[in-house]
Amino acid sequence: MTDTFDFVIHGGVVFTPGGPVELDVGVRAGKIATLGKIDGDAGGRHFDAKGLTVLPGCIDEQVHFREPGPTHKEDLESGTRGAVLGGIVAVFEMPNTDPATTTEAAINDKIARATGRCWTDFAFYVGASPENADELYALERLPGCCGIKMFMGSSTGTLLVADDENVARVLKSGSRRVTVHSEDDMRLQERAALVAGGADVSMHPEWRDVETAVRSTQRLLSLAHKHHRRVHVLHVTTAEEMALLAQHKDIATVEVLPQHLTLAAPECYQRLGTLAQMNPPIREARHRDALWKAINDGVVDCIGSDHAPHTLEEKARPYPRSPSGLPGVQTTVPLMLNHVAEGRLTLQRFVDLMTAGPARIFGIAGKGRIAVGYDADFTVVDLKAKRTITNAWIASRTGWTAFDGMDVTGWPIATIIRGHVAMRDDAVLEKPVGAPVKFQETL
Ligand code: DOR
Repeated sequence: MTDTFDFVIHGGVVFTPGGPVELDVGVRAGKIATLGKIDGDAGGRHFDAKGLTVLPGCIDEQVHFREPGPTHKEDLESGTRGAVLGGIVAVFEMPNTDPATTTEAAINDKIARATGRCWTDFAFYVGASPENADELYALERLPGCCGIKMFMGSSTGTLLVADDENVARVLKSGSRRVTVHSEDDMRLQERAALVAGGADVSMHPEWRDVETAVRSTQRLLSLAHKHHRRVHVLHVTTAEEMALLAQHKDIATVEVLPQHLTLAAPECYQRLGTLAQMNPPIREARHRDALWKAINDGVVDCIGSDHAPHTLEEKARPYPRSPSGLPGVQTTVPLMLNHVAEGRLTLQRFVDLMTAGPARIFGIAGKGRIAVGYDADFTVVDLKAKRTITNAWIASRTGWTAFDGMDVTGWPIATIIRGHVAMRDDAVLEKPVGAPVKFQETL
């Protein structure tokens, strides 16, 4: 008797844990049921992947979608529509909304808003604050919560845990990995006068300098060891931190962003002005080169977008009143595939950084590899496709990308989430099917 499936992917090169192999994938009840040769009459819906590469579903573990709060910039529907068009199957959303996500009620509110409206699977961070620092143990375990986010330096929003005493309280409360925006707030305040009266945006990496990042990461690592707490250092930007983090792989994982890998100062500020302004800043080429070396040395664990939408009107305010952050959830996969095409990293390394990496860091259950029993999540790509990234393609409410006009090789052709084809050929299909991401129960 022939096995039957709900959904079959035929004829693609499939990125299995053993590497790329030409085989078929059979899906039942949203999970991968079989990898191998599947007869044409096996039932269900079929997806012809001939000439395409079937990767595990790419996960973006850092996005800001602005809901509740300034939804004129983005909301959960528009943000996840951009994600799915960009080949992303799941997003972890940051807590610097309005109100900030610092309570059980706020997490539950986000899950209620997301249900039925998200094109990708989702989970939400709880924001650490001096007020909730001792309750994080309970909050981080709520269903639909991916973990804790701690801002050690002020950025968009009001969340801040600046001093060692409060950082230690956060690290002591709970056991899942704490994600950290690592910039030393005391130094940021001391140096704010450099730009406060108005300055050219190229001063941004001067104000928020290398020492600001290094000092904070040194403090964080020392407190993490003292309190035996695993940390995930987000959007690392400096050569100095990469050298330091390589010495602490026992306790710290590392994220980098495509914009820090693709752009460099001063050229990005001359060409893009405040569109290139973000925290921590885009720095000069020696740092970008060090990030690439850290990717290829294995020090970096994952790539996120830090999708941080602000409107063009807001970005047009004179620096430093212009807000920090760039949209990116839709452009991460094309940009990184282009880096693969140009030989800066292998496809295998890309897959590790965008699928198995986040699964390992956060203890995601059932995602992050193509294996029997895992969710049937796939990012189907054409590695040879030559396309141009344009503002017109961007689904974000903000309608712009810093990479408008860039020619790339490699493009997401379909995004498949638990057996549903959520995007095909640059169009969203069916209805939003997003559901909360699940995490390993033992953590
Ligand atoms: O540039 C940034 N923008 N960095 C952050 O840490 C926050 C983000 C935002 O939410 O706008």
